[in-house]
Amino acid sequence: MKKSLAGLMAFVLFLSIQVKADEGMWLPSLIGKLNIDKMHSLGLKLSAEQIYSINSSSLKDAVVALDHGSCTAEIVSADGLLLTNHHCGFGEIQKHSSVEHDYLKDGFWALSKDQELPNPGKSVTFLIRMEDVTDKVMKGISDTMSASSRQEKMMKAMSEIEKEAKGDTKYETRIRPLFENNVFYLFVTETFRDIRLVGAPPQSIGKFGGEEDNWMWPRHTGDFSMFRIYCSPDGKPADYAKENVPYHPKHHLPVSLKGVQMNDYAMVMGYPGTTNRYLTSFGLKSTMEVVNVVRIKAREAKLDIIKDYMAKGEKNRIQYASKFAGSSNYYKYSIGENMGLTALKVMDQKLAIEKDFTKWANADAARKAKYGDCLNKIAKSYQTVDEKFASNYAREALLGGPEVFRFSMGISSLYDALRGSDKEKIKTATERFKTSVDGFYKDFDAATDQKIAAVLFKMYADNVVAKYQPSVFAEANKKFKGNFAAYCEKLYKKSIFPDQQKMEAFLKNPTKKVLDKDPVYTVMLSMMETMKVIGEDVRKSTADLESGRKLFVAGLNEMNKDKISYPDANSTMRLTYGIVGDYNPRDGVHYNYFTTLKGYAEKGKAGDADFDFPQKLVDMFHAADYGRYADKDGSLHTCFTTNNDITGGNSGSPVMNANGELIGIAFDGNWEAMSGNIAYENDLQKCINVDIRFVLWIIDKYAGAKNIVNEMTIVQ
Ligand code: ARG
Repeated sequence: MKKSLAGLMAFVLFLSIQVKADEGMWLPSLIGKLNIDKMHSLGLKLSAEQIYSINSSSLKDAVVALDHGSCTAEIVSADGLLLTNHHCGFGEIQKHSSVEHDYLKDGFWALSKDQELPNPGKSVTFLIRMEDVTDKVMKGISDTMSASSRQEKMMKAMSEIEKEAKGDTKYETRIRPLFENNVFYLFVTETFRDIRLVGAPPQSIGKFGGEEDNWMWPRHTGDFSMFRIYCSPDGKPADYAKENVPYHPKHHLPVSLKGVQMNDYAMVMGYPGTTNRYLTSFGLKSTMEVVNVVRIKAREAKLDIIKDYMAKGEKNRIQYASKFAGSSNYYKYSIGENMGLTALKVMDQKLAIEKDFTKWANADAARKAKYGDCLNKIAKSYQTVDEKFASNYAREALLGGPEVFRFSMGISSLYDALRGSDKEKIKTATERFKTSVDGFYKDFDAATDQKIAAVLFKMYADNVVAKYQPSVFAEANKKFKGNFAAYCEKLYKKSIFPDQQKMEAFLKNPTKKVLDKDPVYTVMLSMMETMKVIGEDVRKSTADLESGRKLFVAGLNEMNKDKISYPDANSTMRLTYGIVGDYNPRDGVHYNYFTTLKGYAEKGKAGDADFDFPQKLVDMFHAADYGRYADKDGSLHTCFTTNNDITGGNSGSPVMNANGELIGIAFDGNWEAMSGNIAYENDLQKCINVDIRFVLWIIDKYAGAKNIVNEMTIVQ
């Protein structure tokens, strides 16, 4: 379908913060109107239609959201072969691992399709098309309507548009707001659910540098893993089944062995999750002083306990590897974000924008009436902090802290069934819960979880005001005199949830009475109650936030009419274009735009948690047998930097050259610009990518999985 011009005009008028050189996460459907000239001037050789088309196959058909946008992947063969990051497949690699088959340590390579490993729950989503539906959503909506009837009318319009677009297709349809609810887009997608693991290097390659190098440049990580999309024999999405077949995509990316030079054109397509480029000074303060402070404090405590446990044996290390990496990633991010925001004086930037905005709004009576109050509304919603601290602590320290309480939530439908006497229903609910049991206990250590609960519950009790304390904490305070270690010891000892044997015995003959008396189940219910109370208060205190933000962004756009802008990331497909380049992290220091295997060998430390290395790889470095994967300079390039504008969710995104060929996989951002989600840093912000030649060399020469490389379309 073609886009309506009226819709486009509405969009183009929503233009605000000044766009610097290569900043921007653009909607692929609009590059033909907004960006293509600039892209051509930087070296792009494709037309907008070759990148995004709804009529013929285009690059967008080879770029998919993994797990509904937690990462991105790209298709690199006619048989639905996918490339993404190692850290995006880490959970699956870990789940398939045991002391006997340690794929984390040794890597995994399917030498034929029947060796590929299924991963229930993993999904891949294609974008079929996107369309500006602002006019349709806003039809009949006026500023004079009450907020609730506006809301109701818009919701109704949206669900009708979604329903109509879906028709009798197998697609999903969903409308997403952009520019703080000033613009609405419809996304039509198709989701596949049989995604099998094809290959992964050992983590001493895929996660080389570990926590120390995470969010840093220079980097030497081979951060990739491979999956394949399967579908039913007639080409439709299907749950895992033996008879499913490899999916044949509309497009797969050719892989270039030509390598990258300084200033080469580079673009990234993918699914960035969240940016806050329109955040106000009030929101910034809250991010720094509430969100990040709580996350850093809670995760530090939790990670210390997990680290201790992991150090004590192979089994322990495998069990908690993915949980540790997941939690530590944004722990370090928050530290870096606060440092970056301070060092780069982002608060001053925000205050200056707000000062200009206020001056502009007050200069005209009509503008003053419309926009004069929006910053006050926003400020007001950040005035009270008790409920915001409580909600952040609740997220990190209650159900999101220890695991056993969240696990116990899964038994609620069995509990409901047990309230009645329908035997069949009880049996079905029991069987369903049983499917989660083995997976949970495989990677669970009760003593570790108990320690985490003790520390985090205490932290919650000490830092959150009385009205948001779970009622069960009264027992900890009275009977146990605030000794949460003793309190948690009792919870874990008396409950069936921390103990697989007790749980299995219970599931043989489940009764409501056992759950009613179970302390873990009881505490979970009490926490849910608390979270509800906090949620209501957060909603009350931020009632005006959304409307204030909507006006602020609309006003900024009006104020900066002649500048084109892009909406904040929201897990929808975006494109960012720029060039390969280096940077100066500090005065007197220069960072090159690429790294080589020499640096890998230099960093390697045998037996180290972050820098351990396979001897074979270092031997291969000394033999320098790089074949067709060598750079013109004779070395093997490992990673490189571009100025593409990416964020979390882009992990695994394809980095493409001027011809739309794959040259790398994006996997990280750099420490000097960790403030980037809130303010793009033109001179400092880099996108860190693994060089595709390093990836192919690992698969081909290191692992000997030639079958995988042979499937790809290689451009020499
Ligand atoms: N910082 C990377 C990202 O967010 C994740 C890297 C995972 N590695 C790790 N050491 N935890 O995409």
